[in-house]
Amino acid sequence: MQTGPTQQQIDQDDGRPSDTALFFQSWLDNPLRAGAFRPSSAGLARAMAGRIDPSRPGPVIELGPGTGAVTEALVKRGVDPSRLVLVEADPVFCELLRERWPRALVVRTDAYTAPPLMRELNGPAAAVVAGLPLLVRPPGDRLRLVLECLRQAERGAPFIQFTHFIRSPVPAPRPGLRAHGSAMVWWNLWPARVWTYRLADRRPAVARR
Ligand SMILES: C[S@@+](CC[C@H](N)C(=O)[O-])C[C@H]1O[C@@H](n2cnc3c(N)ncnc32)[C@H](O)[C@@H]1O
Repeated sequence: MQTGPTQQQIDQDDGRPSDTALFFQSWLDNPLRAGAFRPSSAGLARAMAGRIDPSRPGPVIELGPGTGAVTEALVKRGVDPSRLVLVEADPVFCELLRERWPRALVVRTDAYTAPPLMRELNGPAAAVVAGLPLLVRPPGDRLRLVLECLRQAERGAPFIQFTHFIRSPVPAPRPGLRAHGSAMVWWNLWPARVWTYRLADRRPAVARR
């Protein structure tokens, strides 16, 4: 199975800018889009990837993969790269992701247009994993993105997102949408929390005898 590079390989000096340098440049170019000046730590990436079940069939959508810190953790968790759909706005990051995971589908577009894109895939998504700077968008846009992605995904699939704040970046829980926040992941600059959202199952409970 293709596993992609290790973080050490990513950071090694091969004459090309390191991921940290690329991130810093992206942040200088467009701080609101980059949302961070360096990639997530391996610990935060593991905490994100740990919330998906790799045995669930279907594509795994990553929104805002950046240089691939979480992508790498997803692959290590057992997601075959051919299942990955990486939706990224920064063209330099897209090029890097295509090089690192040639079997993944890398789409250079606005992640807020992901729900219609998800309809075109072969089968509903097993999970959506996002590293987007959600707070730069109004709460209604954030909520719509999560709900619409989950409606295109497999029943019970998670939408996973990290935030540097205590509160959920999406106005949830609310009727129809469950939300679960993890403990703080301290080993990251800045410490972060991982939120998992799922559509609430609205079918009436089966009568039990
Ligand atoms: C905070 S960084 C997270 C990167 C990576 N997931 C990580 O954890 O290291 C946010 C990423 O989302 C991308 N991004 C921000 N807004 C986006 C949008 N609307 N559509 C697609 N990508 C976006 C940025 O270019 C950047 O790569």
